[in-house]
Amino acid sequence: MNESHNTEKIDALRDLILADVAEAHDVKTLEEVRIAALGKKGRVSELMKRLGGMSADERKVMGPKLNGLKDIVTNAITERTQDLHNAALDARLKTEKVDVTLPVRPQGQGKIHPVSQVTDEVITIFGDMGFSVREGPDIEDDFHNFTALNFPKHHPARDVHDTFFFGADAQGERKLLRTHTSPVQIRTMMTEAPPLRVIMPGRTYRCDSDQTHTPMFHQVEGLIIDQETHMGHLKWCLEEFAKAFFEVDTIRARFRPHFFPFTEPSAEMDIGYTRVRNEIRVGEGDDWLEILGCGMVHPNVLKNVGLNPNEYQGFAFGMGIDRLAMLKYGIPDLRDFFAADMRWLTHYGFAPLNIPNLATGLSR
Ligand code: PHE
Repeated sequence: MNESHNTEKIDALRDLILADVAEAHDVKTLEEVRIAALGKKGRVSELMKRLGGMSADERKVMGPKLNGLKDIVTNAITERTQDLHNAALDARLKTEKVDVTLPVRPQGQGKIHPVSQVTDEVITIFGDMGFSVREGPDIEDDFHNFTALNFPKHHPARDVHDTFFFGADAQGERKLLRTHTSPVQIRTMMTEAPPLRVIMPGRTYRCDSDQTHTPMFHQVEGLIIDQETHMGHLKWCLEEFAKAFFEVDTIRARFRPHFFPFTEPSAEMDIGYTRVRNEIRVGEGDDWLEILGCGMVHPNVLKNVGLNPNEYQGFAFGMGIDRLAMLKYGIPDLRDFFAADMRWLTHYGFAPLNIPNLATGLSR
């Protein structure tokens, strides 16, 4: 065999394979090129097989030559694979690019729902007074929603809540959709030790629907438990809240005796308002508007959560977030809140980047 002729053929084969590698523009084609060269029956492999049948002299020349060919081809394919992967990644990154430094679209497609806005405002105000936020489940049991809150069994007070009940489970227990956020009081007192100063916003449910009632609505509950907080603190705290929330310097308020099973004494808080044409002006005036229920936590409730009523006391309050939103922002119908109508939300919604804070104003 003519060695120089053979080495020339190998150089020619190398150039051929390298050209194929360079021309492979996807991983699949490249794999075909690899198999045709280095696969079991590939052209390089077939040549390597012949080494065994060569004379010692021949092998001395052809051995390194063929191994060199194999290395060059292997390296070229590895490199090309990497290039193809990088190119694919670059192409993907180009299409998936997000420029996080771009300004928000001036039209502000998204708006904050008044319920979210008012929830944030309420949390901001009470947060400033040292309250922190707790949450509980929407699906409750009789114990947390009623019994622990001192509702006697079969007491008519359970009926005024128009409760949605689930069917009985295997144990015969009927779960329910919580009718107020007060069960979160129970859950908090049972898992955390006093002193407590918490607010508990969330969804609540009652079987009711008209202009000012929807089957699902929102409440925020407040609770303080320690050894000295009394009714005077309750009044101050809620009056300060009302001024901050309605963004007015003075507010007329009155506490009217009321009944709740879980507070004693109990009251409803009214704030004064005047009607100017169709608009409600909160703060002054001879008309009264009920905005919340409140009272001193009933000794039975403290006992039910394992606290000694001779040692601990405190106040609780609960108010309707949707109702606060209607009053503050002049929204006439509650049902529209949950109609998912973009026109309504565009009109009554809030700019996403104006996060409520007490320094620059809650709603500006
Ligand atoms: N849970 C009461 C309601 O839904 C409100 C309330 C809460 C009253 C806390 C007093 C204390 O009507």
